[in-house]
Amino acid sequence: MRSILVTGANSYIGRAFSQYMGAFSGEYMVHSVSLRHGSWREKDFSPYDAVLHTVGLAHMRETAGNRPLYGQINRDLAVETARKARAEGVGQFLFLSSMSVYGMDEGVITPKTVPRPQSSYGRSKLEAEQLLWGLRTETFRVAILRPPMVYGEGCRGNYRALVRLAGLLPACPEYENRRSAISIEHLCAYMKETIDSGAEGVFCPQDPEYFCTCRMICRIAEAQGRRLPQTRLLNAGPALLRRFTRAGRKAFGDLVYWDEGQCSDACIQCGEVHRGGGPVCAAPDVEGF
Ligand SMILES: NC(=O)c1ccc[n+]([C@@H]2O[C@H](COP(=O)([O-])OP(=O)(O)OC[C@H]3O[C@@H](n4cnc5c(N)ncnc54)[C@H](OP(=O)(O)O)[C@@H]3O)[C@@H](O)[C@H]2O)c1
Repeated sequence: MRSILVTGANSYIGRAFSQYMGAFSGEYMVHSVSLRHGSWREKDFSPYDAVLHTVGLAHMRETAGNRPLYGQINRDLAVETARKARAEGVGQFLFLSSMSVYGMDEGVITPKTVPRPQSSYGRSKLEAEQLLWGLRTETFRVAILRPPMVYGEGCRGNYRALVRLAGLLPACPEYENRRSAISIEHLCAYMKETIDSGAEGVFCPQDPEYFCTCRMICRIAEAQGRRLPQTRLLNAGPALLRRFTRAGRKAFGDLVYWDEGQCSDACIQCGEVHRGGGPVCAAPDVEGF
């Protein structure tokens, strides 16, 4: 039986992962631990094969006052957890980073794109990645995941804003855009696969199909029992928002991991789609590190 420790007792992704793994309960033991109070430092990590580190400051508006917290939680706490895991014989550390390390609102991210974070969130994630990468040994593998927007029932962050919009709008524009995104179910399967394969590297999981914001709003409304009429007559709204505001670009712009045949498992380092055996990349050589 494999044992996995999830950091972040109430993290949306961590809880969804624990629930997902419940379907394989004979094969995996999944525990979670909160890092909010110092007591986690007394916890024995040695029974675990892998640590899934979901702890992080996300979904929070950045202000001058909370800026230092990003470094403390997203970088320093991650590194401290990984050091403890390594010292106590855990074999693999999965770090939930983010697409924000690229610092892009629009465009196509390819294996050659060098991360240039523009926010404290993105910077703290990238700094953590670099420090964690430096902790690797033959027996301590580090897998860095840079998911795009995660969506699914109860999801926090940008997806929640779409749910609110879907409940408010009387009609929806028919405005086409393309964004990488990943469903919570797909992300959980991806994390399981990463643990099963013992993969090490930097990975950008995404759904096989790109996400169109307006289509997603309509799908959410449908799930809420409302059919939203779509019309091009409303397209000036998203077009103007996209042109003049950052939030508009984030919501209605195009931002994707390069498609490579709309792959969902492409490895950011070698650009290959590791099918069957999981997202294994044997020769990590990360640009920007
Ligand atoms: N959701 C997305 O769309 C998305 C996309 C890309 C990357 N990510 C990354 O994935 C990770 C999980 O995301 P999520 O949506 O599940 O986030 P979440 O629900 O906000 O969970 C974050 C976790 O971080 C812990 N935490 C927050 N502040 C802390 C502090 N001061 N000290 C100790 N622990 C603290 C909390 O632990 P407790 O529950 O123990 O209090 C919480 O469970 C995050 O690192 C995020 O950056 C998320």
